[in-house]
Amino acid sequence: MTERGTERGAAASGTFAIGGDLTVNRLGFGAMRITGKGIWGEPADPDAARAVLRRAVELGVNLIDTADSYGPEVSERLIGETLAPYPDGVVVATKAGLVRPGPGRWDPDGRPEHIREAIEGSLRRLGLESIDLYQLHRIDPKVPAEDQVGTMAELREEGKVRHVGLSEVGVEEIEKARQIVPIATVQNRYNFSDRGHEDVLDFCEREGIGFIPWFPLAVGDLARPGSPLDEIASSRGAAPGQVALAWLLRRSPVMLPIPGTSSVEHLEENVAAASIELADDEFEELSRMGAAS
Ligand SMILES: NC(=O)c1ccc[n+]([C@@H]2O[C@H](COP(=O)([O-])OP(=O)(O)OC[C@H]3O[C@@H](n4cnc5c(N)ncnc54)[C@H](OP(=O)(O)O)[C@@H]3O)[C@@H](O)[C@H]2O)c1
Repeated sequence: MTERGTERGAAASGTFAIGGDLTVNRLGFGAMRITGKGIWGEPADPDAARAVLRRAVELGVNLIDTADSYGPEVSERLIGETLAPYPDGVVVATKAGLVRPGPGRWDPDGRPEHIREAIEGSLRRLGLESIDLYQLHRIDPKVPAEDQVGTMAELREEGKVRHVGLSEVGVEEIEKARQIVPIATVQNRYNFSDRGHEDVLDFCEREGIGFIPWFPLAVGDLARPGSPLDEIASSRGAAPGQVALAWLLRRSPVMLPIPGTSSVEHLEENVAAASIELADDEFEELSRMGAAS
């Protein structure tokens, strides 16, 4: 972990070493939104999607989050076509464990044979021989958790995966999984207005596990006109979403937000949030706001 610098781009967010050895800038990019509506099929403008990916890397983003289920396959394929061979230091984190019967539908499938088949497709589409961070998208309640996590551990032993992550889990599930394989990251829904996983975040911080908050831009009612969030954003000429990202980055040194967008303009705005340094009193006021909601 490093101090946050004043340089522009994603590097201003400081760094975190995933699994202790894979150093990334803390502000990443979520590639779920470069697919069609309902996270289904091709994007309306594939060239624009490729431009977003290229611009993200130009801006110093080197943690790109995706999943086999985004599209399905579309997000990973676009990333592979656009960015492989990857510039030095670019980490693509993908996931397995959800299947898509149709637009907007997500069904868990944590059977070992499914995960083993899924990784082969991800490696092919991404143009990789090994996945730096492979995340179990959900623990499938129909399959023993130890079989799902055990399969991730086997893939790591076989060299197909460097680090293993989990998604939408509680502290107890992380503890159990860690008895089988080291857990490098946890990806849970967490943002300025939804802090339900505070206990998981605190646990991750204590244990040096990267915490990847998804839906990081959500501000909800807390951005209402005249609210502290609105006032801090206005005083800096920033968007409320940018202040929400700055708050997340300040909240914990293990926080790795992955805002997603299909637009270069929005991407640039999100990355610029890495350079917003909140004063102590601003941070504390913003922290109280969410806790009270
Ligand atoms: N593990 C999980 O279960 C899980 C679940 C959901 C998501 N994720 C991951 O988390 C990432 C982020 O989550 P998310 O996409 O749900 O939430 P998000 O990044 O907080 O928000 C994305 C939404 O905000 C809009 N947006 C982005 N930047 C904006 C800006 N500067 N101004 C105005 N609107 C903006 C996007 O639309 P435009 O395209 O129009 O910008 C999109 O509709 C995903 O890409 C994915 O990688 C993981």
